[in-house]
Amino acid sequence: MTAIDSLTQTASWKALQAHYEQIKDVHLRSLFAQDPARGERMVIEGAGLMLDYSKNRITDETIRLLLQLCAERDVLARRDAMFRGEKINTTEKRAVLHTALRAPRHATVMVDGQNVIPEVHAVLDAMAAFCDKVRVGSWTGYTGKPIRHVVNIGIGGSYLGPEMAYRALRTYSDRNISFHFVANVDGAEFAEVTRALDPGETLFIISSKTFTTLETMTNAETARKWILDALQDEAAIARHFVAVSTNTEAVRKFGIDTDNMFGFWDWVGGRYSMDSAIGLSTMLAIGAQNYRELLDGFHDIDEHFRTAPPEKNLPLLMGLLTVWYNNFFGTQTIGVMPYAGPLARFPAYLQQLQMESNGKHVDMQGRHVDYQTGAVIWGEPGTDGQHSFYQLIHQGTKLIPCDLLGFCQPLSSNTHQHDLLMANLFAQAEALAFGKTAEELTAEGSPDFQTPFRVAEGNRPTNMILADSLTPRSLGALVALYEHNVFTQGAVWDIDSFDQWGVELGKVLAVRIIPELTADGTPALKHDSSTNALIRRYRKALGRPV
Ligand code: F6P
Repeated sequence: MTAIDSLTQTASWKALQAHYEQIKDVHLRSLFAQDPARGERMVIEGAGLMLDYSKNRITDETIRLLLQLCAERDVLARRDAMFRGEKINTTEKRAVLHTALRAPRHATVMVDGQNVIPEVHAVLDAMAAFCDKVRVGSWTGYTGKPIRHVVNIGIGGSYLGPEMAYRALRTYSDRNISFHFVANVDGAEFAEVTRALDPGETLFIISSKTFTTLETMTNAETARKWILDALQDEAAIARHFVAVSTNTEAVRKFGIDTDNMFGFWDWVGGRYSMDSAIGLSTMLAIGAQNYRELLDGFHDIDEHFRTAPPEKNLPLLMGLLTVWYNNFFGTQTIGVMPYAGPLARFPAYLQQLQMESNGKHVDMQGRHVDYQTGAVIWGEPGTDGQHSFYQLIHQGTKLIPCDLLGFCQPLSSNTHQHDLLMANLFAQAEALAFGKTAEELTAEGSPDFQTPFRVAEGNRPTNMILADSLTPRSLGALVALYEHNVFTQGAVWDIDSFDQWGVELGKVLAVRIIPELTADGTPALKHDSSTNALIRRYRKALGRPV
């Protein structure tokens, strides 16, 4: 990738800055009044998803300038380089090919002169064969009992996607098997998850790209002890543990039969891996056929992102709108509110996807950026959030663009409740955009003393994303929508969205502190005064010499 001009020096950036000055105070009420067709015009569709972006603080000129910025930053060239398998993760010298994970069997994607698609499908086939055996009960535990409980041990990208997808697609899952997730190194989590499980019926999936992550390896050792304490034979490990990793040697060393290992590759980033073998728990839950549907949903959006014209390209436009608010309005956060209970963990999943990808302070050349990069992502399902933090979005002093997500078809047979859910979804977008003026309140009989408190200024922007129903396929499409949205932002900002050096320092320091907490004698502490005092306080609390 060649060095490009600093973002803030580009012609389109300067034009956007000038344009922002002109429209920053324009109200969505005026924009809709001036153009009654706006709500139908500013809608695009692709891969079964609809994006209504009309309730954003934009005009046609904004979109024109954002697309110009996209062209000036060569976003499409970088996109094509990603799909071709070029090493666009330059700081780790790696290709970025999560798109290959969902490509059809006949596709060709070359990495270092080799077509990776046959390997991808070989792993998918092995996963499917294994999942079928577990689901029909022919894969038994050491004592001959079928598997009734699956525990995925993993953290970050080796946990958030599997847990999110399991919750989202539970309707499609095998109810004879219960699914659990252990991520935190806090031993309380493992203890709580396993307390009611029968070891003889439990399968652990140790999910770790590196197979070195402290939390995962510690929980895996605890799990191994839990199985051995109950079943009293090393031979039980092979029946109760499988691994998902890129690190065969470490898997073997741990004692897991590498025949029971499902691999992936260094060109799959952790936070982009839920559709690799990391999705084993998902496939166990919903079956191989539904899992293929999930992958097809991802692929639908890949194809849309790759081929749709920029002005009709959902992830591209969402990424550019994020840049618009983040860099011109100076917003710091984005709310993501799925109006679907099963998507409760979707915001948490998106936190890692977006914040680990785009929380970067230098550009691809290592220069400190003079513009804002990744936003803080947060959210909760609607309508829950309406009764907790929406007040601040409606009437607070901060501007918080929100993505509101919904599905037309109910997942349960309770259509009435689904109508209520969707009414709330549409109402929130309307209230956030248009608010309520003092005049309107007075006309409705609001007492004067209350009116200032009841005024809702509106002009709070939202994206509305609708799909027909929550299925494996639409979930895949939604995740890929955000993957490529994140990509677009990173390409505009010219940052490496695929490394995560920032998380390393804390890991190194934790490894240094562990023996200082556990030492029998009094350790010589060489940290700052605060860290030293915290370590001493902890040791004292546990009755250790200080
Ligand atoms: O801490 C960051 C991170 O490296 C994530 O990027 C990754 O998803 C997670 O840790 C887990 O890593 P692994 O799958 O190697 O255990």
